[in-house]
Amino acid sequence: MDPSQNKPIGVIDSGVGGISVLKCIRAHLPHENLIYVADSKFAPYGEKSNEEITHRVLTVFDFLNKQEVKSVVVACNTATAASIQIVRNKFNYPIIGMEPAVKPASLISKNKVVGVLATSGTLLSAKFSALLEHHGNDIHFITQPCFGLVELVETGDLESPALTILLKKYIDPLLKEDIDTLVLGCTHYSFIKSAIQNLIPDHIKIVETGDAVANYLKHVLIEKHLINQNTALGTIDFWTNSLDQNADNVIARLWGGDLRGFHYKGLWI
Ligand code: DGL
Repeated sequence: MDPSQNKPIGVIDSGVGGISVLKCIRAHLPHENLIYVADSKFAPYGEKSNEEITHRVLTVFDFLNKQEVKSVVVACNTATAASIQIVRNKFNYPIIGMEPAVKPASLISKNKVVGVLATSGTLLSAKFSALLEHHGNDIHFITQPCFGLVELVETGDLESPALTILLKKYIDPLLKEDIDTLVLGCTHYSFIKSAIQNLIPDHIKIVETGDAVANYLKHVLIEKHLINQNTALGTIDFWTNSLDQNADNVIARLWGGDLRGFHYKGLWI
């Protein structure tokens, strides 16, 4: 047996958004030990420069490398766009990134009008332009940067009137364009999916990427013989650098009901 199989998998984000992806990973790979790192003190990443984001991402990788991870999922569209190539060049274990689900949306949409909600960093990135160019030929994509949403989710606000007002401001222009598919291109937005659903007609399909990323991670681990052979449920360590007194409650609430294997570790830096 390859001893690497027992090593943990790192999952990182600018904050708590990647917990939406972590849940999918747990569902697909229940026997893996997972380490989640939220860089909440430096969230949001969405309006930072590529250099700043890369510096933060490398700091998080440094922390994970000390724990000898066998793979890392960058559960953040913005960080992936800014720095995935840099970390892949630097470290020689599998590193999985995220990108807005433009391809699946282009296949699902019937009227070929698709809305994309994401951070400005993601939407302005070269990676996103290339993605649209590749998959968006016959599709009219309407992109909407959503300033302020990540900050609200970070505080655990998933449904306040302030959140609804902000969401309406971003979604109404997309409804006017008659979108029939809506891409959630930021992992934080998965946690406000219900609030989004309340503002759009039933026929509009919402597309996310967490499940596909978890599935892809599993595929890569199998291919590289890195699957943990344990039959017991894996552990999940949560690290954050949030200085908010309520950070542990927000994390536990976003993680949801099943606390088996859940360990809140607190400050990582
Ligand atoms: N969860 C990150 C993403 O998927 C949020 C980025 C941010 O911190 O602005 O893009």
